Order: sequence, then structure tokens, then C-alpha cells
Amino acid sequence: MLDYSVLPFRVDPMSLEDIDAVMAIEHEAFSAPWSARAYDYELRFNEMARYYVARPQTERVRLDDAPKPFLLFRRTRARARVSTDTPLVGYAGFWLLVDEAHISTIATHRDWRGRGIGELLLLATIDGATEIGAAVMTLEVRASNLRAQSLYRKYGFTVVGERRNYYTDNGEDALIMTTPRLTSAEYRRQVRDLQAALYARWRERGLETSSAST
Ligand SMILES: CC(C)(COP(=O)(O)OP(=O)(O)OC[C@H]1O[C@@H](n2cnc3c(N)ncnc32)[C@H](O)[C@@H]1OP(=O)(O)O)[C@@H](O)C(=O)NCCC(=O)NCCS
Repeated sequence: MLDYSVLPFRVDPMSLEDIDAVMAIEHEAFSAPWSARAYDYELRFNEMARYYVARPQTERVRLDDAPKPFLLFRRTRARARVSTDTPLVGYAGFWLLVDEAHISTIATHRDWRGRGIGELLLLATIDGATEIGAAVMTLEVRASNLRAQSLYRKYGFTVVGERRNYYTDNGEDALIMTTPRLTSAEYRRQVRDLQAALYARWRERGLETSSAST
């Protein structure tokens, strides 16, 4: 039987028009937020960076037709402009540094957390990084940020080191977390299994595109 379930959220490239909405989330999500200017610079000039935004899906997409988040990732600016009509619920990005993809940011709007958007964004960055040849993904995370650490652990990141007093706002330590080789068969399988589980969860729950506060 055909499955007409839909993906409740979709991922697009971040565009300059998204920056205001990104900043609204950024200020709530981070104690040391980036500026709008920093995002503007990243989008215009950093060729080694990729940024993604998540929005509630407005068009029906059959899960069977959309096995990977990046299939929903449209590169055209026209498409990205159209997408600004719907609210932005999360974003993520990475820098490609030699053969390492370094996650520079990831956040879900406070009212939309716990619905798999963080996972979808992480999947998009993993797919994006793999596509452009990264060998591994790495990141720094606050030692106290157990929610984010749990998300990363779920996706195979392990702690490989720490940076003492890394965060200038409160002197907190950072944990350095890294994936196995992105292209290893075992890791690809792990990621695809996690993605399948996320989609299955969405299928079971039906379409959830209203925020937790509504
Ligand atoms: C971290 C963050 C991006 C997670 O986004 P999210 O959309 O709520 O995450 P998801 O719903 O996709 O959850 C995926 C996994 O994250 C972890 N997670 C999410 N919320 C959690 C919570 N309240 N407690 C513990 N783990 C949690 C779990 O491992 C979860 O998997 P599970 O559902 O199988 O338990 C979000 O909490 C956020 O924006 N935090 C503020 C910004 C931030 O700290 N960014 C990371 C910087 S390093």
C-alpha cells in the first residue's frame, strides 16, 4: 500500500532573508549569540560554510519519495525566498576545515523542541558534509549542555577531548565530540537507521506542524 504520510518539516539552504528569524532563535538559544552581521558574512563570503533552516512542511511529500533530508534541500535562491513565507523553526551550519566538517551552530526554536527538528538538521549537516567530501564531523559543546550532547551521542559522536575555559562568557569547558568516518558502511547504516526511526515516529504521530505553545 502506498504510504501518503508526510514529512512535517523540510530543510532548505539558509538565505539572507532568513537572518532576522535566525536571530530571534539565536538570542533565546545561546548565552553568547552570534550577530546578524556574522550570519550575513557567513552566507555571503564563507565558501567553506553551509547553513540550513528547517520549516514546517507546506507541501505534501511522500516519505517513500524522500529518503534523505538533502533531497528536500533545494539549492535555488528562488526556492529559498519562497520558503521565508513559513516560520523558521530551527537552523544549523558547518564549516569544512580541510576534511573535517565542524558544526558551527545548531538550534531549534524553544517552542518546537523535542519533535525531531534537531535530528533532521543534524541529518542534513551530516549528508551535506558527506556530499562535499568531509571525512568526519566534529564540534565543541558546553560541558553543561546535556541535551545537545545527548543528540550528538545518538548520532555517533563521542568525546575525544576537552578545551578548558573555552567559553568566554562564563569560562565553561568545552567537550570536543567527533563522529566515526562519515563514509564508513557502519556509520552510514547507523545514520540511515536513525533517519528511518525518525520518519517512522513522525508517521506514527501524524503531522505535527503546530508549535508546542499553540
Ligand atoms: C540541542 C537542540 C538543538 C535539540 O533540538 P531538538 O529539536 O529539541 O532535538 P530533537 O527533538 O531532534 O531530539 C533529538 C535528541 O536530542 C536529545 N534531546 C533533545 N531534547 C532533550 C532533552 N530535553 N533532554 C535530553 N536529551 C534531549 C535526545 O537525544 C533526543 O533524542 P530522543 O528523542 O531519541 O531522546 C535544542 O535543545 C536547542 O536548540 N538547544 C539550544 C541551542 C543549543 O544548545 N545548541 C547546541 C550547541 S552545541
